[in-house]
Amino acid sequence: MGPLSPTRTMRLWGPRSLGVALGVFMTIGFALQLWGGPFQRRLPGLHLRQSWASSSGSAAPPCPPRQRLVFLKTHKSGSSSVLSLLHRYGDRHGLRFALPARYQFGYPRLFQASRVKGYRPQGGDTQPPFHILCHHMRFNLKEVLQVMPSDSFFFSIVRDPAALARSAFSYYKSTSSAFRKAPSLAAFLANPRAFYRPGARGDHYARNLLWFDFGLPFPQEMRTKRGNPQPPQDPNPPKLHVLPSGTGTRAHTLDPNALFHPIPTVAGGHSQMSSSASLDLGSSSFLQWSLAWLDSVFDLVLVAEYFDESLVLLADALCWGLDDVVGFMHNAQAGGGQDRGPASNGGLTAEDRQLTARARAWNNLDWALYVHFNRSLWARIKQYGQSRLDRAVAELRARREALAKHCLVGGEALDPKYITDRRFRPFQFGSGKVLGYVLRSGLSLQDQQECERLATPELQYKDKLDAKQFPPTVSLPLKTSRLPSH
Ligand SMILES: *[C@@H]1O[C@H](CO)[C@@H](O)[C@H](O)[C@H]1NC(C)=O
Repeated sequence: MGPLSPTRTMRLWGPRSLGVALGVFMTIGFALQLWGGPFQRRLPGLHLRQSWASSSGSAAPPCPPRQRLVFLKTHKSGSSSVLSLLHRYGDRHGLRFALPARYQFGYPRLFQASRVKGYRPQGGDTQPPFHILCHHMRFNLKEVLQVMPSDSFFFSIVRDPAALARSAFSYYKSTSSAFRKAPSLAAFLANPRAFYRPGARGDHYARNLLWFDFGLPFPQEMRTKRGNPQPPQDPNPPKLHVLPSGTGTRAHTLDPNALFHPIPTVAGGHSQMSSSASLDLGSSSFLQWSLAWLDSVFDLVLVAEYFDESLVLLADALCWGLDDVVGFMHNAQAGGGQDRGPASNGGLTAEDRQLTARARAWNNLDWALYVHFNRSLWARIKQYGQSRLDRAVAELRARREALAKHCLVGGEALDPKYITDRRFRPFQFGSGKVLGYVLRSGLSLQDQQECERLATPELQYKDKLDAKQFPPTVSLPLKTSRLPSH
């Protein structure tokens, strides 16, 4: 990684530095500006960072915020809330998004650069490069690198496959033929093979959805041609060490002749792979290979169960302020939150526990992925410092709560029936209700703008960014007469 590598700089970020920073800001005379309203753009102090090299230098320059980002938006993993942060940050800073023509990049097919609006293949040098690529795709590194520079910050988010399965079952009940045939998730998981057919419509929603979104090959895909990654012809796979995620060896894999997908070294001869719910891969090298490959590509993988901890680490890695990662939850389904998080395990019934165990076993590849990235996250937390993290998390939550109270009717997400303003009504999909927000009235103009950014659902925000990046060129009367009917 380049000189921007987040591991090369250490930042001050805690109450002590808050105090120091506050003093500095006050003496410079910014105090009024910073404390001058309910909407401080920045929490004072959070931007005072010290270069690791100059440990004595109180005047050390802050690290430059990273603004080239690739976020793999995984399904049903809390990724819409991350998207909301990215939309807001890019919007505020005038960054260019690599946008899909509609709302996804040809999903579930693998990502293709040609799907990006305004993309010109090599040579279109009048085209300013993109800053952020973040909408739904099935990850495909080779094509992503046609759009985004290789030193972009790559990140994603994972969720416990049991929680993910609950959410996916409700959301994709009618999209996935396996789910549609099943009366309940419990019934589905009790005997998944009675409902699930590889290759049937929406089958990827019903099993190992994370693995699919990361663009990793499945053992059965090595045998059936469905436009998925093919095993390279090279009989000698390159050797890889399994590294903790975020160690940033992507630069070494960017040789144009290098592999863009891991090779399952053992899968070829295993025809019964999909007949077992357990991870019967003959050897773990297929998994090891895949995880090592992901580690070499992704700088950070957030974990939905530790969302706020993840956000603090994200802000640190990107050299962003804590305020930049404070936002509201988006695309949450009504009643979908209570089994989220490790704290609620106490109230689980025997049926819940069985369902969880079965969901993890059925989604065996996702479970391995999840355990791996959970471990990486906690290794990073340890590195960052547990108590320092706890303070930042508390700060983040307090800030979110203050924003919710200030911006939102009821201070929380509401049933969509209360959301009459189309700009804020989230797209309704699946068998549950998707919650959204209603803004309080009487906000100042500036607060109104900021609250709107926080409350705007992802589809509407994408449309807004699209309109900003591709302003209509036709004259106004013509434009109004051509408004699409939907
Ligand atoms: C994730 O890691 C934390 C910290 O090590 C641990 O307490 C938790 O059980 C892990 N979760 C899973 C599902 O492995």
